[in-house]
Formats: sequence, C-alpha cells, structure tokens
Amino acid sequence: MKSAIEAIQQLGTSNSGCGILNGRIALHDQLEQAVSRLKQVPHTLLFLNAWMAMKGFFESFCHLAVHIPSFEHQRETVVLMDLENHGCITSAVMDASGGHISGQIFSRSPQVRYVPYRHNDPASLAKQLRKHVGPGDRIIVVSDAVFSMEGDIMPLPQIIEAMRPYNHPVLLVDEAHSSGALGNGGGIFPHFGITPAALEAEGIHPVIMSTFSKFAGSAGAAISCFSRSMRDLLLAARPHAGTISIPPATTAAALTSVQLVLQHPEWTTELQKNAGYMRRRLKRAGFDVCGATQVVPVLLPDGCSPKTFARQLLHQHGFWVSPVWYAAKPRLRLVVNRLHSQKDIKELVTAMAATRKSLSGAVEAVE
Ligand SMILES: Cc1ncc(COP(=O)(O)O)c(C=O)c1O
Repeated sequence: MKSAIEAIQQLGTSNSGCGILNGRIALHDQLEQAVSRLKQVPHTLLFLNAWMAMKGFFESFCHLAVHIPSFEHQRETVVLMDLENHGCITSAVMDASGGHISGQIFSRSPQVRYVPYRHNDPASLAKQLRKHVGPGDRIIVVSDAVFSMEGDIMPLPQIIEAMRPYNHPVLLVDEAHSSGALGNGGGIFPHFGITPAALEAEGIHPVIMSTFSKFAGSAGAAISCFSRSMRDLLLAARPHAGTISIPPATTAAALTSVQLVLQHPEWTTELQKNAGYMRRRLKRAGFDVCGATQVVPVLLPDGCSPKTFARQLLHQHGFWVSPVWYAAKPRLRLVVNRLHSQKDIKELVTAMAATRKSLSGAVEAVE
C-alpha cells in the first residue's frame, strides 16, 4: 500500500493515455522486468487485465502478423483449447477465429480454427492435434495453469509431450492462479521443474499470461514471451494501443508484490500447506472437495443451493465464501491464503458443517 500511495503522490491517479503515446511510466518498465524475472522469460508487455491481454495476444498473433516484417505468416492458425479454460481465453479465441471484427479489419488474414480438447487430458489433445492439424498450420495450445473453477493443475509435462511431434507450436498458459502460488512463486513451469528457456530451445514456444488481480493484490496483466518481434507485435494490439495504461498506484502495488514473491519463495510452500490443511479438514467433515491447490471448490449435495448456503454461512457465522451457480456446475469456491491460520480454517469448516446440518437436517460430526 505504501508504494501505491507514493506513486499517487509522485505521478497522480492516472497516466491519462495509452502506453504507446503519453501513458508509459518508468514503473511499467520496472514491472515488466520483474515479471520477466519471475517467469524466467525475457520479454514482457503489460495490459489492463487478463481479458485485454488474451484479446490482444490472439488478435495480433493470428491477424496483425501479416503487417509486420519478420513476423509475416500466410498460414492458418489452429488453436487447441482445454474445455474448462477461463472465459477470457474462450472469448479472445472466438473473436480471433472469424469474428466479424477480424474479418473486416484484417481482411487479408489467414483463417483461424479452434478445437477443444477434454479437460486436462493430454491424450485428447494428442488426438485432436492428429485429427485437425494440416501441413503448414500454425499451432497454439492454450490452457489455464490452475483452473479457476476446478482448482486443479494442468499436466504440463504431458501436454508438452503431446506437442513434441509438431513444428514450432506455441504453448500459451494462463497463470492467473499459479503465479505466486506454485513453484516457489514462479508458477507452473518451476512447479514441474521445467525451464521455459529449455522448452523454447527445443522449438516449443512458451507464452505466459500473468494477472496481478490474484496473487499481487492489484490489477493488470502481462504477456511474457521469448520473441522480441512477438512483443513488438503486441504493442500494436488494439487492447494495448487503444486504451489507457495501468495507473501508477496499481502498477506500483503489483511491482511491490512481484518483488516480494521473488524475495520469499517459501511463501508458496506455506500457502500450499494451508491449502492442504483446508482440503483435509473439509474432506474429514464429509465435504466433496475437488482440485489440488489454494482454489478449493466444494460441491454441495443435490438440492442444496450454493447461494442459500453462502448467505447463511455469512449471516450466521461471519464467513464469506463465493457461491457459484453460473458458468460452472453449482459449488462453493473457497480460496485460502498464506495468512489464514489453522484456527481460522478449523472454524470455517465447523461453521460450514453447521450450515449444512441446518440446511439438510443431517447429523454432523466435526472434531
Ligand atoms: C484463470 C483466470 N484467468 C483470467 C482471469 C481474469 O483476470 P483479470 O482479473 O486480470 O481480468 C481470472 C479471474 O477470474 C482467472 O481465474
């Protein structure tokens, strides 16, 4: 918070313009460099949020490329997407794949086709690649690193294995819930002991999308990649070039958080320890918990409304959990952090069991 206040005092509340005109400040350079260090990927560009970053990436990668020397392509792009990917990915891919905007503005662009594969299923990805990729196609595989509604982790090594037979595919990962949470803070790649540079060297091109709205207590997003031309291309993407840059206070807050994550790799271990404790307590209390991370989805018994459950938990016990009844199977979505104590977690589970009992009349036994 201190750095955010200082940024407002020095630079005001807004940059009053987009990054390629008057809206670029030194803090943007510093944040991009810090994200590149965290991700071990040399080039990073900031966007206002994940939706803009994804839209900017797909729009420029699939369509703008024809206008930029050294990044020209006349080939079709095939986008392979996990069925449970976040909406920002689906929406960006839909727009890029024959959306009327692209058709009108980028009339010379080659086609973009999208193909879903089954959730976290590398065999399904391999099958879809065999079936849908033609000679000369450009390939992008895109996946959440930690799935926002399932709380599970993408099987990165097996996804990479499925991509190996192909010519220079791009692997785009959405690290909204894995940055600062897995792999000593670095996310999905260090979690599996894979270096992005090694992947790049073998001809599979990693592109990483980070957001600052989760681990960094701020807002904004970034795309990190190995190709300088790809970063230059992203500069021209409309969601970057055509809107305000991240304001000073928000940038400063994100920068401080990334620096803290870089300084404290042990925080990730503490966070996942808390997540494991919460998962164990919930399971012991008979809750149906899925996933494997700090995102802890709880499926309720049939007929038990998440909204009613969450409302009662808040009003009678003072605990807020997110009810989900739209865009995913109904559930409660709990997100544990590093600062929650075991006492907090125990009290939450006891309150959840009491709520379930009062709503269902079932006999509960929580230690
Ligand atoms: C996997 C995933 N990607 C992207 C986002 C959106 O991030 P932002 O807040 O930067 O738009 C979210 C947040 O809900 C998310 O869960």
